[in-house]
Amino acid sequence: MDFLRYLDAKETVDDRALNKDVWQALVDAVAARPGPLRVLDLGAGAGAMLRRLWRWGLHPHLDYTGVDRNPDAVTHGQARTLAWLRAHGGQGQATGPASGYGAWAGRTVRWQSHCADAAEWLAQARARWDVVVAHAFLDLVHLPTWLRWLAAAAPGGWGYLTLVFDGVTVFEPVPDPDLEARLMALYHRSMDERRTATGAPAGHSQSGRRLFAALRATGARILAVGASDWVVHATDGRYPADEAYFLAYIVETVRQAVREHPALPTATVDAWAAQRREHIAQGTLVYMAHQLDFLVRWPA
Ligand SMILES: C[S@@+](CC[C@H](N)C(=O)[O-])C[C@H]1O[C@@H](n2cnc3c(N)ncnc32)[C@H](O)[C@@H]1O
Repeated sequence: MDFLRYLDAKETVDDRALNKDVWQALVDAVAARPGPLRVLDLGAGAGAMLRRLWRWGLHPHLDYTGVDRNPDAVTHGQARTLAWLRAHGGQGQATGPASGYGAWAGRTVRWQSHCADAAEWLAQARARWDVVVAHAFLDLVHLPTWLRWLAAAAPGGWGYLTLVFDGVTVFEPVPDPDLEARLMALYHRSMDERRTATGAPAGHSQSGRRLFAALRATGARILAVGASDWVVHATDGRYPADEAYFLAYIVETVRQAVREHPALPTATVDAWAAQRREHIAQGTLVYMAHQLDFLVRWPA
């Protein structure tokens, strides 16, 4: 399946899911900051957060830096941002293959994106930022290690740490409760057992709740926390935007995560996924994932 199309399809799901109280707390926190507000987005994908911060009006003047190790996502993000600007009557232009500036609705943004491993990139970065964003990212990495790096990137600034998965995945309907429970347990365990190329722990299925203690250990102040659950369902048998594709991608992700596990026959997992794809085609599949958003202030 196509990861870039998945990222695009995820935008409307994330728009709905993001916790609006935590968002408002961020807007209020940075309101008095003179612009441009310097924002660093780690694991930025195709820059959905860049366009969202702009659309939602985080600050009248943004200076955005995105980092992602996927070169296709970075290239795709540049095209998406320029297309979005054109489609919405904004003005702006590219200044390089992954950078540009623009004005829209009285708000200006200058952006640059880097294709790099964020850990390596941060190790050599000299700049400091007002806000560090990690959106749908922190549940993929080792929290104690990465939070130290995030805090160091924005001393005295803020962390907007969003869509951190927290241990609950629900698909409805549930034709076989026993199979569903075993499958979800294996899916979550696959997140707990994930390792980096060097064998270090990378992510956890309960990253959301673990973030409280991990943040305290960095000396960060937790200013606001709220649920940002993904909830995807059809209306009159149709899913909004490209969310049927989003669902198909999630079903495939679960299938890939558990299909080699000896606890369940591969054919059983494949049959589960085939049935879930039928539910999507019928518009009967409901999917929910529990996630948390955090606004924090890093130590100065
Ligand atoms: C779930 S996607 C989220 C992307 C984007 N934040 C969004 O929500 O649209 C996670 C992203 O993190 C990136 N990523 C994972 N580990 C990374 C690392 N060590 N350095 C840079 N990017 C990384 C992946 O390439 C992927 O694009």
